[in-house]
Amino acid sequence: MCGIFGYKGISSDATNIVLNGLKKLEYRGYDSWGFASFQEGKIKIKKEIGRIPNYSTDFTSHLSIGHTRWATHGQVTANNAHPHTSKDKKVVAVHNGIIENVSELVEKYKLEKETETDSEIIPLLINHFMDEGYSFVNATKKACLQFNGSYAIALINKDSEELIAVKMGSPIILGIGENEFLLSSDIPALLEHTNKVVYLEDKDFVHINKHISISKIDSETKIIPDIKTISWNADSAEKEGYDHFMLKEIFQQPSSIRKTLDGLVENGFPSLNLKKIHLEDFKRITILGCGTSWHSGLVGKFLIESLARIPVDVEYASEFRYRNPIIDKDTLILAISQSGETADTLAALREAKRRGASVLSICNVVESSIARESDDILYTRAGPEIGVASTKAFTTQVTMLYLLTAQLVLKNKSLSENKVKEMIVDIKKIPELIELVLKEEKNIKVLANKLSKKNNALYLGRGIQFPIALEGALKLKEVSYIHAEGYPAAEMKHGPIALIDKNMPCVVIATKDILTYDKILSNIQEIKARGGEVIAIGTKGDFKLKELVDDIIYVPETRYSLTPLLSIIPLQILSYHVALLRSCDIDKPRNLAKSVTVE
Ligand code: M6R
Repeated sequence: MCGIFGYKGISSDATNIVLNGLKKLEYRGYDSWGFASFQEGKIKIKKEIGRIPNYSTDFTSHLSIGHTRWATHGQVTANNAHPHTSKDKKVVAVHNGIIENVSELVEKYKLEKETETDSEIIPLLINHFMDEGYSFVNATKKACLQFNGSYAIALINKDSEELIAVKMGSPIILGIGENEFLLSSDIPALLEHTNKVVYLEDKDFVHINKHISISKIDSETKIIPDIKTISWNADSAEKEGYDHFMLKEIFQQPSSIRKTLDGLVENGFPSLNLKKIHLEDFKRITILGCGTSWHSGLVGKFLIESLARIPVDVEYASEFRYRNPIIDKDTLILAISQSGETADTLAALREAKRRGASVLSICNVVESSIARESDDILYTRAGPEIGVASTKAFTTQVTMLYLLTAQLVLKNKSLSENKVKEMIVDIKKIPELIELVLKEEKNIKVLANKLSKKNNALYLGRGIQFPIALEGALKLKEVSYIHAEGYPAAEMKHGPIALIDKNMPCVVIATKDILTYDKILSNIQEIKARGGEVIAIGTKGDFKLKELVDDIIYVPETRYSLTPLLSIIPLQILSYHVALLRSCDIDKPRNLAKSVTVE
């Protein structure tokens, strides 16, 4: 949560560079914003609530820090917005994370807070140590050693043109340009300046004066930075002609899946190239994730159990570590996260490791915290996902889970080698089939018009389509604010059926399969018998289903285990258009943030 951007370098336009960077980070938090820029012993500060306007300043500066906020401690007010300062405005800080021991520190050092935030303690304590005679660097190090919790901090001070960044638990990346240094919470905001970055590690302390030096908060020893080159280009973080990132990302799914498959199939077989994890060492798998990533985990459970015959549990990462989970050396932890920074997933992963488990992750963001802390990593190649509602992250995660399943099937010999080859042939056809579904956008818009006038919706599916019902409902509620519930279709009669009337539209995923298709037709009849309205997702050519329902969106036929990759597409498009009709802020839905880096 929250975005930090910082600049120090040759350009005298530091403030506008920071504002521009913050705009790109706004998806991380967008209830208020602010910046602080240094100019010859003066610091100009501006803080406001709401979105960052198309603001540009003529204040010349070579050093600036800024912040876009997602409130945790303290209401959304200009006073609580960052930057925060010491009383005399000498030390200025922006912070992402949570400092947990604020009251203890306030009492111990007799500090006076003026805001409701935890973050204000940072400049207050640093200033306190500077008043005791410590340099800016040493006062910051000393203060950091007092903080409990998580933080990524950028700091400046009135007396010298220095920029400091510290990382402990929350992400911050150092960008290295030509005669300039940048700080950012995420890669996409850096790309227009540089593709050379250093992923800071916990406890890293960056001091940028005339030169840059990196050490640890508890040590003087200099660290040689590991500079990486990013392959994403600046365009990948732009809308490229689409009205919203969400729509762009929905339409990118065929290419994201192709890129994810690329290099992981050899001679028709899956080839995941794991370095440390030996899949044959494990008897069960526990999947951890949150939100959409938890939903892809549910699809993964279905795939792995039914095809590879390995038992799988899927856990909300946020619940896992608080319930004394049973983990042994036979359990493989599979952490799924687009951002690789979700605090709940990271904390669950650490807990599993503490108990001796091996961790494999599926992440989209290269070198993210979850990726770095895992024993092995499978990268989805979706490219930057900026829309707060996950779309291409979901389908690339499911693609990766399908490949992992195929690899496990080979190891376990639960199916013949020929069957595995057929599985791979079919997943390779998925991008083309998604392209066909994307062509249905016009018809889906018509249904969006109907749904946009409702207050509630029920999403139903069975078997492998149940997680799709959950994901479809999540997409609708996130971007359109219509209340939606995902349910296993057969469970409806055990309660939710009481809700059915003409005001409760039901979106039913009823693609053809041998196991549950007939049953789901009966569930649809139960809805119709009670005056409910049904929008169905069906298999192309299914006229029987068309007769039963009010509206239908067809998806092409594919093997059962791949149907989620097709049926989720119309549900994403439907949510997008419903939100558009309701004039919602699609890429930045209220109260949400792209990566949730607080527990
Ligand atoms: O980055 P992660 O995949 O770990 O994020 C997990 C959830 O926060 C995320 O999927 C969230 O639910 C999205 N807003 C869903 O669209």
